[in-house]
Amino acid sequence: MKIAILGYGTIGSGVYNVFTTNAEIVEKKAGEKIEVKYVLDLRDFPGDPAENVLVHDYKVIVNDPEVECVVETMGGDKPAYTFVKECLLAGKSVTTSNKEMVANHGPELVQIAKDKNTNFFFEASVGGAIPIIRPINESFSADEILEIRGIINGTTNYILTKMDHEGTDYETALAEAQDKGYAERNPEADVEGYDPARKIAILSSIACGRHVDYNDIYTEGITKLTAFDFEYARHMGKAIKLIASMRKEGKDVFASVCPMLIDTESPLFTVNDVFNGILVNGKYSGTIMFYGRGAGSLPTASAVAADVVEIVRNRGNNELIIWSDEKQPVTDRLEEKNDFFVRVASFNKTKAREAFGEVEDIKPLNGEYAFIVRGITEAQYESAASRVRIINKLRLLNA
Ligand code: HSE
Repeated sequence: MKIAILGYGTIGSGVYNVFTTNAEIVEKKAGEKIEVKYVLDLRDFPGDPAENVLVHDYKVIVNDPEVECVVETMGGDKPAYTFVKECLLAGKSVTTSNKEMVANHGPELVQIAKDKNTNFFFEASVGGAIPIIRPINESFSADEILEIRGIINGTTNYILTKMDHEGTDYETALAEAQDKGYAERNPEADVEGYDPARKIAILSSIACGRHVDYNDIYTEGITKLTAFDFEYARHMGKAIKLIASMRKEGKDVFASVCPMLIDTESPLFTVNDVFNGILVNGKYSGTIMFYGRGAGSLPTASAVAADVVEIVRNRGNNELIIWSDEKQPVTDRLEEKNDFFVRVASFNKTKAREAFGEVEDIKPLNGEYAFIVRGITEAQYESAASRVRIINKLRLLNA
């Protein structure tokens, strides 16, 4: 099979690397040779092994009937979406690592592949090297997924781990994550939580079979965390992790991304550095954990390359992915119950106790008053928090 790679950045060059250095094994697994016929990028790469197959115009790829499979690793919505849609309409299969495009256009692109009897795969869009889309789509197909909860952004997990274990400041840890090729082109997508919001929207859509819009997901990043939050967390024997979750409760579907305090008993407690950890709870299966490298060139490329092999094996056969464009409503965040850890100035202690009612005191730091309030709705929290100035708050994830 002849393939083309769109975008020769961190992931695209990793995919090229996998197909050239691991060609023999890939050929055995696929049952035929896989040849990278084109690499598309606006830039030139003099002296690079991909130099001879480099093209600058995507039409060369769309119009070449020999190319049966296209790998999209450009990232971002447009022009990636336009190129991918044209390739699918031209009868080619596509695999992508691009969560922004998948979260925005998943139902449409899945449908085109179905109509054309080809495949649109996006395993690498969530969890880097971790198999998660295919297990949710296939291994849980006779089950009902009740909850997905996890750490699905490598950059922020790397930053939080460095800040917690090594006392590294935020900027230094972010720069290191960028150097290692983990971060998005615009790191705001990582640190403000937009990237994990798109990823949990993708997982939730596959789990529900209907489109979960990431704009409906409550999203809070890690930029407000300070060294004091980590000190409190250590003192309570907990870690701070950016948690993305989707939970069904009766007819409600709750979804959110926010930093949370994690107990040592939680399997997510030990998910550190660039690693991702995802817990999927099925009605019949119980909880299953997925763990591995969530970002980086070769780990992500390994998932993209495996999709290509799956495309070769499924020539002329569309692997069913149910992701209808019908919207899956996400229940109003204000109705969700949570436990909160809250910090206020010590002179606000009485006011805070009046506003929040029954609370558990936490040993204070730095002239503050700190407490935990349990089992209140987000609406109740908002109402109490409007009556006293909050320094910071964190939700608790109970094991
Ligand atoms: N910026 C993303 C992360 C890349 O850090 O998880 C992998 O999706």
